[in-house]
Amino acid sequence: MINQLNQESRRAYNEKIKQVFSGGVAEGWDTKGRLIKAGKDNIVYDKIKKCGHDGMSVLDIGCATGGLLLKIDQSIHNCRMTGIDISCEMIRQAQRKADFYAKEWKLINHDFLEYDFGDDRFDMIVLKFVLHHMADAEETLKKAIELLNEDGILMVYTPGGRHLQEVFGAAGDDLDILGRKDKKQLSDILLNCGAGQETVEFEICNFQIEIDTFDKFIEFLKRIGSYQKIVQYRNMSWNASFTNQIREKFEKAQYLTGEYILITLYKKR
Ligand SMILES: C[S@@+](CC[C@H](N)C(=O)[O-])C[C@H]1O[C@@H](n2cnc3c(N)ncnc32)[C@H](O)[C@@H]1O
Repeated sequence: MINQLNQESRRAYNEKIKQVFSGGVAEGWDTKGRLIKAGKDNIVYDKIKKCGHDGMSVLDIGCATGGLLLKIDQSIHNCRMTGIDISCEMIRQAQRKADFYAKEWKLINHDFLEYDFGDDRFDMIVLKFVLHHMADAEETLKKAIELLNEDGILMVYTPGGRHLQEVFGAAGDDLDILGRKDKKQLSDILLNCGAGQETVEFEICNFQIEIDTFDKFIEFLKRIGSYQKIVQYRNMSWNASFTNQIREKFEKAQYLTGEYILITLYKKR
C-alpha cells in the first residue's frame, strides 16, 4: 500500500508521480475531456460557488494547469488564490494561464506534504482528483485541515468504490488498483486524522461515461494518470493478458459507471 511510505520510498514515489504528470499528460490536460462522449464528472465548482465568499483565500492542492483556480477567480470577487503542484510542467502551464488572464496567483511547485506554508491559512482548500494519487491520504487530509482558517472549508473530490466498476470491478479494500474509496473508507480516514468533531457532508456523484472505442478509453486513462497508477506509476505497459481482460469487459459494457465522492468539511471554530 502506498500509505505510510517511509521517507526514502516516498521520495521515489513522488519522482514517479512527477514523471507521470509531465510531458504529454501535462500538455493534454486541458483537452482530455474531448475523448469522452458523455459523462458529467464535476460538481465541485457549483459547490464552491455556493459555499465561497468574496475575498476568500483559496488553496488548490494538485492544481495542475490552474483550470479550477481560474474558474473560481472569475466568479468570486477578490479571492487570494494559491495553487500547489508537484509537477513543474503543470505549474508552468498554470503560470502561463495566470499571466494570460493577468491574475496574481501564488503558484508553488512542490510536494504538498513537504511544503512549509509558514503562517499561511486558507478559507477554502480543494483537492480535486488528487487524494488517490497522494503518498499518504491521511497525512494529506490532516495537513489540509490544519491549514484551514477557523470556519474554513475543505473540499475533496475523489473516485468512489464503484467508479468504472464494469471494467475494474468494484473497489474492495485499501489496495484498490485505482485508489477508489467508498464513503465508509473516507469517513474512517477523516476520523483517523482527527476530524471527528467537524461537520462533514458526503455527496455521491453518479454518472454514465460513454467512450467510443477501447483505444480512446486507454488513452483517457493514460491522460489522467489512472493507467499509470495501475502499474504503480512505473514507466511500463499493462501486460497483454490484463489488457485483454479489460478490453473484453469494456466491449461488453453498454456504458461505464462514473462515481465520484465529494466531501465537504466545515472546520469547527
Ligand atoms: C489527476 S491530477 C488532478 C489535477 C486537477 N486538480 C484537476 O482536477 O484537473 C493530479 C494532480 O496532482 C498533482 N500531485 C500529485 N501528487 C502531488 C503532491 N504530493 N503534491 C502536489 N501535487 C501533487 C499531480 O502533479 C497532478 O497535477
